[in-house]
Amino acid sequence: MTTAKTVEEIRAEFPALARRHADFPVAYFDGPGGTQVPEAVVEAITEYLFHHNANTHWAYPTSVETDALLLEARRTYAAFFGGAENEVVFGNNMTTLTFHVARALARGWSAGDEIIVTELDHHANLAPWQAVAQERGLVLKMLPFSTETWQLDVAALPALLSPKTRLIAVGAASNALGTITDIAPIARLAKDAGALVYVDGVHLAPHHLPDPKSIGADFFVCSSYKFYGPHVGVLWGRHPLLSTMDVPKLEPSPNTAPERLETGTQNHEGIVGAAAAVQWIAGLAGSEGSLRARLVRSYDLLNRRERELFARLWEGLGVIPGVRRLGLPPGGPRTATIAFTVDGVPSESVARQLAEVGCFISNGDFYATTVARRLGLEKEGMVRVGAAAYTTSAEIDRIIAGVAALQQ
Ligand SMILES: Cc1ncc(COP(=O)(O)O)c(C=O)c1O
Repeated sequence: MTTAKTVEEIRAEFPALARRHADFPVAYFDGPGGTQVPEAVVEAITEYLFHHNANTHWAYPTSVETDALLLEARRTYAAFFGGAENEVVFGNNMTTLTFHVARALARGWSAGDEIIVTELDHHANLAPWQAVAQERGLVLKMLPFSTETWQLDVAALPALLSPKTRLIAVGAASNALGTITDIAPIARLAKDAGALVYVDGVHLAPHHLPDPKSIGADFFVCSSYKFYGPHVGVLWGRHPLLSTMDVPKLEPSPNTAPERLETGTQNHEGIVGAAAAVQWIAGLAGSEGSLRARLVRSYDLLNRRERELFARLWEGLGVIPGVRRLGLPPGGPRTATIAFTVDGVPSESVARQLAEVGCFISNGDFYATTVARRLGLEKEGMVRVGAAAYTTSAEIDRIIAGVAALQQ
């Protein structure tokens, strides 16, 4: 019999949830900016630093243990991505990994070659491509998103593709609006044009188990700190590409993939913690089956709960005068992250007032700057609330009450 952890059981594992602010228990609604961390993850980091801390590839025991732990972490992420351990690259964060990959790929491209980016993406999946376009005389094209459907205008893609298209950089889910993009049809069009597909999975991975191979991605990148881990980025890439890309690297460092993409000494404790976060998620819905099977079950569980929380939040905010909800309603292709504005109350004031009642939320453009610009909100910004594994319906009610009580 498989037993799923209750929200109360989950919450008991997060010391951060004991925090109080202004005499209110803190409710963390900024999962899309970074989730809180369960004890098991911090224990794994501590255990590594206290008892196994070393650099890699030497003959003494702590170095051997470090090698083994890093390999184990790669295996964990192989299960997470549904791929192989030699397809998993660790790095500082998604942004740094993307600059690195963009630079390497662009070494093989010529002036006049084309890259497609999107209006819906976080700028971490824009700026690296912009930078290499500038450096190498590449043409950057932009796939628009519709402010009516809140989705990418995929019908506009065929006209943007050409025999010169080398890559399309696209987000799997918008960290501002929560929109989930169906990557498979985009990848099919890209493949037909001979282009690579680089997927930003940072906002998707906390809500849906990645499956980069089956959607046709060549690269899929995410950040462990968005799903209960420490600040570490993780990239999945097709092994033949990782093996042959012209990456900037030190001559004596390993030249086999995936290590050839990992510059310098890695954040060993962070990687161990990032793997512990995946194991923690896998343990939410019972202990039977392979790691991948357990992850599938856990994500199903999280999804079910998040959908309920989101519907409650969407409905609750919808009846408050002056609140404008941005994005798709419940039931649409979306995560449990909502962005909204409140007439007459700047987004920063909303965030400050809600913090006074213990509700921690973020505001601004969340680096989805083009989205904010398209919505005319680049100055005022948006307010963002996201549900995570530890969010309760009572917390959702608190935020709804907090928004209803905002002062101009
Ligand atoms: C959708 C999305 N992409 C990319 C990033 C950048 O990730 P990182 O902080 O790991 O560089 C973020 C961070 O908020 C994000 O939400």
